[in-house]
This record gives sequence, structure tokens and C-alpha cells, in this order.
Amino acid sequence: MEKQKKEIKIAIIYYSYSCQTAQLIKSIEKGLSRKGIDLFIQRIRPVKKIFFPFSGVLETLSMMLKTFLRKRMPIEQIDTWGISSADFIILGGPTWSYNPSGPILYFLDKYGELLKGKEVLPVISCRRYWRHHYYYLKKRLRAIGATCEPAWVFNHKVDEPWSTIGTFMTLAGMNPRHHPLIRKHYSKYGHSKRQLEEARAMAEDLAKALLKEKT
Ligand SMILES: Cc1cc2nc3c(=O)[nH]c(=O)nc-3n(C[C@H](O)[C@H](O)[C@H](O)COP(=O)(O)O)c2cc1C
Repeated sequence: MEKQKKEIKIAIIYYSYSCQTAQLIKSIEKGLSRKGIDLFIQRIRPVKKIFFPFSGVLETLSMMLKTFLRKRMPIEQIDTWGISSADFIILGGPTWSYNPSGPILYFLDKYGELLKGKEVLPVISCRRYWRHHYYYLKKRLRAIGATCEPAWVFNHKVDEPWSTIGTFMTLAGMNPRHHPLIRKHYSKYGHSKRQLEEARAMAEDLAKALLKEKT
């Protein structure tokens, strides 16, 4: 067991605004460490803190517009050695207006070179619309010289249009569960326990596959 621990090192780099990616990453971390993988975890933190929820409808709309235009959000210093010494990378974060979030875009601009020659697995947390986010990441990673693996995508499990309405209300600081009509259709913001369990199981399978590849 101790021997396995030294064999593969995975760096998990992630940003999470409302803790959904953070919960997925925690489950993934559990799955990987159960299989003896050596982990380096780097949470990305914007220099200018972005508070959850936003202060209201205007700030939410303004953020959506900025992120639609792929505005970069500067991040605090990260541990570059932890990333460059890893054999495999997991890059996690939410979809923001069909794109990777501003802090992840900044990370790619400033530190993307660290991923050169590495396999990168994107983990995407979103309400539903992730494809453009993934294609953009794939293009950026290819340009850096990294290999982009098929993404692990986790949607919110609520039907439309309630998912859009409920997510927007939550982000803008209005509790959708307090609205008599919406609460009938909107059970919860974010991911379910089952999805977190799935993420852990997927991580265990990934660990097994990587360890097998090494031997
Ligand atoms: C500014 C902003 C824009 C968003 N745009 C999208 C979007 O285009 N598509 C989508 O499916 N979800 C979108 N979402 C919802 C988030 O992707 C979703 O809530 C995710 O689970 C949040 O993960 P986090 O808590 O790790 O930040 C957006 C959220 C924010 C804050």
C-alpha cells in the first residue's frame, strides 16, 4: 500500500464559487486516496474575494455578462511545484456563462505552461450547459501541449425552466424555496448526494486505471 502511494501523483487544481465543485473534489479526493494515490490539492482563490451569493439581481447579471465575455479574474499565488511534479492533472470548476470561470481562465493564462505534456481531466460543475466550456478548455489545453481527457460533467438535477430560475434566484440571494410556486419544482441548488457518491466511485476507477497503466 505504502509503495503504491509513491507511484502516481495527481494534482487537483480547482475553483469553486458556491462550493459545488469543492464538494465534488472532496469526493474525488476520497476515491483517489482510498486507492493510495499521492495527491496535491490546489484551490484557486481570486485576489478580490467574490462573495456568495451576489448582492442582488444587478450584480448577478453583471457577472454573467462579464463571464460571457471571458473576463479574467486574477488569482492568489499558487504552488507551481505541486503541479509541475504531478503525473496527472484534474482541473475542476464551474461553468460561467458557457465558459470556464474567470479565475480558471486567469490560471490558464498565467500558469497554463505548467500543464504542458500532461494529461488533464476537466471536472465541470454546472446547471446544465457545459459543452462550450469543455470545447474551449480542450482548445486551450491543446494549444498549451496538454492532452485533454473527456470531461467529468455534473449537472444540477432539476428540470428546466425551474433549474434556470432557481439557480438565478439562488445566485442573486433570493431563496427559491421561499417562493410558493417555484418550491414545488425546485428541490435543491447544486449536486445530489448520489452525484457525490458517483464522483467518488469514478475517482476510484480512475486510480485503478492509472495504477494499472504504470505497472
Ligand atoms: C456567473 C455565473 C454564470 C453561470 N453560467 C452558467 C452557464 O452558462 N451554464 C450552466 O450550466 N451553469 C451556469 N452557472 C451555474 C454554475 O455553473 C453552477 O451553479 C455550478 O454548480 C457552481 O459551481 P461552484 O459552486 O463550484 O462555483 C453559472 C453560475 C454563475 C455564478
